[in-house]
Amino acid sequence: MKIGPVVLDNILVLAPLAGITTLPFRLLAKASGCGLVCSEMISANGLVYGSAKTQELLNSRIGEKPLSVQIFGSDPGLMAEAAAMVEASGADILDINLGCAVKKVLKTGSGAALMKTPGKVEKILLAVRKSINIPLTVKMRTGWDKSGSDAIKIAEIAEAAGVDGITLHPRLATQGFGGKADWSLIADVKKNVAVPVIGNGDITTPEDALVMKKETNSDGLMIGRAAIGNPWIFSQVLSLMKGGERISPSLSERFDAMKTYLATSIDCFGEQRTCRMMRSHLGWFVKGLRFSGRFRESIKRVSTQKEAMSLIIKYFEELS
Ligand SMILES: Cc1cc2nc3c(=O)[nH]c(=O)nc-3n(C[C@H](O)[C@H](O)[C@H](O)COP(=O)(O)O)c2cc1C
Repeated sequence: MKIGPVVLDNILVLAPLAGITTLPFRLLAKASGCGLVCSEMISANGLVYGSAKTQELLNSRIGEKPLSVQIFGSDPGLMAEAAAMVEASGADILDINLGCAVKKVLKTGSGAALMKTPGKVEKILLAVRKSINIPLTVKMRTGWDKSGSDAIKIAEIAEAAGVDGITLHPRLATQGFGGKADWSLIADVKKNVAVPVIGNGDITTPEDALVMKKETNSDGLMIGRAAIGNPWIFSQVLSLMKGGERISPSLSERFDAMKTYLATSIDCFGEQRTCRMMRSHLGWFVKGLRFSGRFRESIKRVSTQKEAMSLIIKYFEELS
């Protein structure tokens, strides 16, 4: 799949997940064969007004390339300025969030709220398109109308404004994560635009990815929640696509992934911050394993790298 001139190794995309798709997480997905990784959504205001915490979200490493960085906001001028900053940081693709349905974001007229105001979307996209040379994409939801008319309208506006790709998570803005993603709308959007369409929503198993591809004819497949603590889903989908088997990660692969995730996080965020994150994050990787509840409990108060490592080692000794 190609997004503008950016050629991807394959059609699999890691979804932007706020608070989760940090650089260490993205590197794991990439190592498992994911074709394109995405940053979490980054506030355009935060970037333009120089928030150090926001700026840090732009950090990247060569090993995760190509990287798509997502911004959110509602002011065309600010979005264009933030987009230029993202380009200057070395990102390969700029994505605009038209799908976030969290109240705090909707209240500012950003995210999925924009799907109510197609004129504003057009202004934002035209301003951003002018301000950057890297490929531009949008990620949206079904919007506010069950028929899917908002999504089709926004897709057409986006294409006319010069976007290089469109991701659709076909749930209404009012739906949160309830109900089921309506994959038929991905097929509808795909029929209405010429740019690549990336389907997203409810790929929970490697097999689901193949079904979505077949049912929707989408160009790309984006996986979010199913990749949390499970970067192997990308290699599993790739294997199935080649007619191979779905190979489960061995205990030592899980162990290595946790060790790598811990070490890279310490490198990126320092020991204290990382340990606070690891209190919940390490538990992602042991879902479904024996004694996982006990392990999760044991890491709840972890405060040093050494302690985290010894708890991981102890747990895997118990398992093997
Ligand atoms: C914890 C969490 C954080 C998310 N953060 C973002 C975000 O920053 N930007 C975005 O466009 N979507 C975000 N999403 C939505 C996902 O990218 C994706 O569209 C959604 O989870 C459906 O895909 P899935 O069923 O594969 O998880 C988030 C979802 C979750 C669960």
